[in-house]
Amino acid sequence: MERTLVLIKPDGVERNLIGKIISIFEENGLRVVALKKTKLTKDQAKAFYLVHKDRPFYEDLTTYMSSGPIVAMVLEGKDAIKRTREIMGATDPKEAQEGTIRKLFGLDKEKNTVHGSDSPESALKEIPFFFSEQELIALI
Ligand code: CMP
Repeated sequence: MERTLVLIKPDGVERNLIGKIISIFEENGLRVVALKKTKLTKDQAKAFYLVHKDRPFYEDLTTYMSSGPIVAMVLEGKDAIKRTREIMGATDPKEAQEGTIRKLFGLDKEKNTVHGSDSPESALKEIPFFFSEQELIALI
């Protein structure tokens, strides 16, 4: 069993897609371990995306990610990190495969509706960014 962090970005929350997106993960065998709706400050968004600090899109991305409420969740399952990324589809919705979340709902590279940890190392950093030990105790 593996755990990963998934975010529903402001464009997904704004369009009332929280339930639909969670359903897609659940239908694919992933289980919600922890879940919260929150809003990042600009500084929190900058800290979360620190690995991208030298990329040209860093400023816009962090402004966007702090522009409205998001949903953070920890998903658990076999190969959860890889599975989640398959279910989300390519970063650019134009390149995402049919049936993926970004193909279904993504608007552009920035407003691509969901984020998922890209490696076990990222998941280890990203999960505690949003959730305390107490919140991560699996009740199942
Ligand atoms: P995410 O999975 O949240 O991780 C980093 C984000 O940066 C990525 O999804 C995209 O939303 C964003 N991103 C990556 N490449 C670009 C780009 N070329 N232009 C704008 N945003 C980008």
